[in-house]
Amino acid sequence: MDERNTTTITESQLPQADRDPEHMQGHWVLAKLGKRVLRPGGEKLTKRMLAHATLAGRRVVEFAPGLGRTTKLILNAGPAGYTGVDRDEQVVNIITPLAASANGTCIKADAAHTGLPDESADVVVGEAMLTMQSERGKRAIIGEAHRILKPGGLYAIHEMGLAPDDLDASVKDAIRRDLAQAIKVNARPLTAAEWRTLLESEGFEVLWTGVEPMALLRVRRNLADEGVAGVLRIVRNVLTHPDLRARVMRMRRVFDAYGDALTGIAFVARRTD
Ligand SMILES: C[S@@+](CC[C@H](N)C(=O)[O-])C[C@H]1O[C@@H](n2cnc3c(N)ncnc32)[C@H](O)[C@@H]1O
Repeated sequence: MDERNTTTITESQLPQADRDPEHMQGHWVLAKLGKRVLRPGGEKLTKRMLAHATLAGRRVVEFAPGLGRTTKLILNAGPAGYTGVDRDEQVVNIITPLAASANGTCIKADAAHTGLPDESADVVVGEAMLTMQSERGKRAIIGEAHRILKPGGLYAIHEMGLAPDDLDASVKDAIRRDLAQAIKVNARPLTAAEWRTLLESEGFEVLWTGVEPMALLRVRRNLADEGVAGVLRIVRNVLTHPDLRARVMRMRRVFDAYGDALTGIAFVARRTD
């Protein structure tokens, strides 16, 4: 069977697996517990997004492939080329054999400075990686996507959103503060209008937007994303790792506290110039 449908990731391959659980970034805590889909709107929103970004026969660059679930979807769509870009060496080691199964590669680089040639991609995909950057960091990565895309090329992103667009500034600040404490990442989600303005100001026109609930730690979402066997593995790990369990409970309390104000949001945007 094809490499891309069979890969299993062992605990020792995971980023930050040897770190004290109290200091691990939230997504790697979840990965250590067995989660593989690490984006806020789940695989459903990913699939909706990819359906609006033709991949077959296109040169695709994926920023921050993580554990490779979207990589598999991209490769199964039959792209003309695939390049993953992640700043974490362990991620690169996970993605490289997957990419190689379709003559692709994965490079270790910051998505803000990929070193890839100008206008060498038709589609750039990036999920759950802009939210964790500062305003300047977000702009640098979006600008890099613009540089490596050919004019008219598509940039597909899936990130954490805030709703509604007129959410009170004090609530936004509280969400950012509580998220940072719970997930140990300076997460700065934006409203739909703010994401759109950011993309437009970096030379993109938004073609499509989709929203799903931010249900990363909900049972139903995990059944959809990880399957029954995956959920059972996660539950077993949660029960047997009290230190990781404490981290997950703290994350869940924050996600629950803000309810509908936190979303998974995706955009497909076109390079306009
Ligand atoms: C939350 S995980 C998301 C992984 C995957 N995209 C998913 O949705 O399941 C964040 C990923 O972004 C990568 N990352 C974060 N900032 C990055 C940057 N500036 N350049 C490249 N990779 C980055 C991390 O190494 C990690 O693999």
